[in-house]
Amino acid sequence: MTLAPETVPAHPADGVDVLELYRAHLGSGRSMLGSVMGGITEVGSAGAYVTGADGRRFLDVGGYGVFILGHRHPRVVAAVHDQLDRHPLATRVFLEPMTALAARALAGIAPPGLDQVHFVNSGAEATETALKLARVHGHDRLVSAVSGYHGKTLGALSATANPLYQRPFEPLAEARTHIPYGDIGAMRETLARLGSRACVILEPVQGEGGVVVPPPGYLGEVSAACRQAGAMLVIDEVQTGLGRLGSWWGIDAEDVEPDLLLVGKGLSGGVVPVAAVLATKAAYQPFGDDPFLHTSTFGGSPLASAAALAAITVLRDEHIVTRAASLGDELLAELNRVAAGFPGMVEQVRGRGLLIGLKMADPGLVGEMVLSLVDRDVLANHSLNAASVLRLTPPAILSPDELRQCVTAVAESLAEVRDRA
Ligand SMILES: Cc1ncc(COP(=O)(O)O)c(C=O)c1O
Repeated sequence: MTLAPETVPAHPADGVDVLELYRAHLGSGRSMLGSVMGGITEVGSAGAYVTGADGRRFLDVGGYGVFILGHRHPRVVAAVHDQLDRHPLATRVFLEPMTALAARALAGIAPPGLDQVHFVNSGAEATETALKLARVHGHDRLVSAVSGYHGKTLGALSATANPLYQRPFEPLAEARTHIPYGDIGAMRETLARLGSRACVILEPVQGEGGVVVPPPGYLGEVSAACRQAGAMLVIDEVQTGLGRLGSWWGIDAEDVEPDLLLVGKGLSGGVVPVAAVLATKAAYQPFGDDPFLHTSTFGGSPLASAAALAAITVLRDEHIVTRAASLGDELLAELNRVAAGFPGMVEQVRGRGLLIGLKMADPGLVGEMVLSLVDRDVLANHSLNAASVLRLTPPAILSPDELRQCVTAVAESLAEVRDRA
């Protein structure tokens, strides 16, 4: 849908060749990607929609899992505006009340025992923080799952088990082991070898790995095995946390006792980047005792804290978690119904809550689907660690009409891609 020209607000880049600026300053690869996507520039957003420079509106069921509240939720925007007008960045000399309030709010919704909070700026930085905390406790043997995704900074990359991203940056942490996800036998064997020096990092459902749901009981068994071995357990809920799976946390259904839990993406409220590490008192002690051991100039800024606090408040007040669960059930059922008509193309529709993957028969089909969906004004994502999985992470504020728009677009795109072949 395209807005009438008079309703499209002026933008500082009006008349500028954005693609050319990308080519000149942001890299040929990024500009080529933009060109493949039709050279569309995004200049606005609200609710479930992103707006292009020409006023065209796209239903955003992608967003790499960030927009559980949609774009620019009014209560998050109001809280951030208010903080912007008061005090956006702290001196880091005095105490800062918004950071304290956000920490209390996050601890208030955290799984039991995780009442220590360390704010950072991104998911990868949360992983870095966790790996350093593990090291300082002597857990210097990193264990992660094949296709697990934990970010791309140098430390996090040791946990992100994809040779495509790791190989150009070798040597990474030498003491790392990647084992199959969902295989408790492999985990027990590894822990038997590494003992208490192990630091295990896992996602409750692999997101970038192509929406891989582990067998029931796996996470609980990993937790028990880690306790028995004296290993550290880091649960990465950067993508799965804060309602995305239709529960507050991906580990809620099982008896899992992490030492550290990582949160990001949705914590931003879709407005200001922020991530955090939740920790037990024992795990956090080295950083808790020495405030200069691990620091970041912008980590836990008042502005980011205002966004996080507002996001948590909205999640609670607007029953976002239960909405994600019911909307997710409905969407999964609808997409399964649609996919049944394309048996040669879609091998499986899988997921939990509002993290849904369509496993395609061929990786090439994912790119074609993303493009065909854009033609229908719908944004979806590929998966960074699973080339053949189209990923949908819609907001929990989707209306019945918007849900129907998404399902219809997927059905039409599947038909178009099939008929093109
Ligand atoms: C589970 C998980 N951990 C960590 C990250 C890294 O987060 P960021 O891209 O904010 O560094 C991601 C990003 O997709 C993720 O899905």
